[in-house]
Amino acid sequence: MASLPHPIQYQGSKRSIASDILKFFPKKVSRLVEPFAGTAAISVAASAKNITQNFLINDINQPLVKLLELIVEHPNEIADFYTTIWQQQNNSSIEHYYKMRDEFNKNSDSKLFLYLLARCVKGAVRYNREGLFNQSPDKRRKGTHPSKMKKNIEGVSKLLKGKCTFTNLDYRDVLAQINSSDFAYLDPPYQGVCGNKDSRYYSGIDFYDFVLALEDLNRRNISFVVSYDGKRGDKKFGSELPKELNLKKIDIEVGRSSQATLLGREEITIESLYCSPTLNTEINIHNLSRQLVVIR
Ligand SMILES: C[S@@+](CC[C@H](N)C(=O)[O-])C[C@H]1O[C@@H](n2cnc3c(N)ncnc32)[C@H](O)[C@@H]1O
Repeated sequence: MASLPHPIQYQGSKRSIASDILKFFPKKVSRLVEPFAGTAAISVAASAKNITQNFLINDINQPLVKLLELIVEHPNEIADFYTTIWQQQNNSSIEHYYKMRDEFNKNSDSKLFLYLLARCVKGAVRYNREGLFNQSPDKRRKGTHPSKMKKNIEGVSKLLKGKCTFTNLDYRDVLAQINSSDFAYLDPPYQGVCGNKDSRYYSGIDFYDFVLALEDLNRRNISFVVSYDGKRGDKKFGSELPKELNLKKIDIEVGRSSQATLLGREEITIESLYCSPTLNTEINIHNLSRQLVVIR
């Protein structure tokens, strides 16, 4: 798949493995539902591949969903705003970042959020106990150049404009509204990686609630794919989903750590996908590239 537009820098984005994830989607679906959309990288990829042209994009982080909606529906407005803010940095870019962060924490302006994500360390969203965004600036970079940002914004808008419903709900409220003609892609925050439990937005989800929600989707014959656990070298992230859910598990090798290779260790990063029993993954399994392994 040609390189996909990506205006929002975001830790946990699935953009780099979107084409591998899409291999396990049906060829056509009437609507793609993303209850944990983040940057909506999978909806962007699914539109480019014409799997569907109808999307429900949800995330509990309100400024993030509002930002996505602006990018999709009002690309010029948000691109111009970004250019103005980016150009204000001049030589005092660190000071400027903190000023913009204070402003964002007062007014939750999602337009400012684009700049903060472009400038902050690893695009990693961090909040303190009061729910205030507290990530530091990346001191070595000034954030995506406005001309490149504009291209990425226009690219996403071209693929999604007029085709999405945007909501800002808990994932369970989204799942309660959908039916068996929908297809869901679920990418919750990993246990242990999502940080502060008290944070308003990026809170980890309860494992058992999530298992119950998947059980309910099975009962209602709704097809879905979940990105869940993973591992780097010997280190595991998150628990495996229970076998009782009858999901097919696929491990995707997403990279090798160059630093570990230098130290003589073989450290491979794996992300796991789970496909619902209603999905016919047999066809895809024959076409797998080397780094995709079907586990069960
Ligand atoms: C791993 S990220 C998703 C990344 C996304 N697939 C992408 O490619 O950008 C998980 C997302 O779940 C959201 N989230 C956390 N708890 C949630 C909840 N209870 N309901 C809905 N979304 C939630 C977070 O705000 C975060 O954006």
